[in-house]
Amino acid sequence: SSESKLQLVHRHVRAFPDFPKKGILFRDICPILKDPAALTAVTDLFEEHVRKNHPQVDLIVGLDARGFLFGPLLAQRLGVGFVLVRKIGKLPGSTVSVAYDLEYGKAEVEVQEDGVAPGQKVLLIDDLLATGGTLYAACELMKKQQADILGCMVVIELKELNGIDKLKPHQVFSLLQY
Ligand code: PRP
Ligand code: ADE
Ligand code: MG
Repeated sequence: SSESKLQLVHRHVRAFPDFPKKGILFRDICPILKDPAALTAVTDLFEEHVRKNHPQVDLIVGLDARGFLFGPLLAQRLGVGFVLVRKIGKLPGSTVSVAYDLEYGKAEVEVQEDGVAPGQKVLLIDDLLATGGTLYAACELMKKQQADILGCMVVIELKELNGIDKLKPHQVFSLLQY
């Protein structure tokens, strides 16, 4: 059942206090990747969500780096393509980019210009939603590409950071909330 799959996933997330700096409680998804049953459960739960709510999806768009761990598995299940949103400077050919603010300093993400065609229906995927800055920038990229954003998906939502509000009007589906 969905309930026991969620429990399985939940048991495979670890918390590390003060990583990568003091005051941050880091939610580590590495144990999910190490256990095939847990990784299958994550993929099953995402697949069930998409088939029920977004059966018209054309592409899964994954965020560098940890979105790459879950996105291609889901895309294969759904029989759709996977597109990479990368940190700046990693993709060849013509790209479009969006800069965004981090807690300290700036970052930039980009996608290949031919990665998404105007009007294509996309779902964005990452491992975790914190402030929402990363997924927000990826949504801006998709808007530049005139994609039709169906929503965002994450394994973990950190509720106290209100990333959900930053991403409105786009919906965020999460498996686990802390
Ligand atoms: C982490 C995480 C999310 C993002 C969430 O990525 O994987 O992508 O932070 O934070 P936000 O909602 O405040 O933007 P990070 O850039 O640390 O590195 P990685 O995915 O390359 O490991
Ligand atoms: N990315 C941003 N905040 C994070 C956290 N608390 N744990 C893991 N990844 C993160
Ligand atoms: Mg990341």
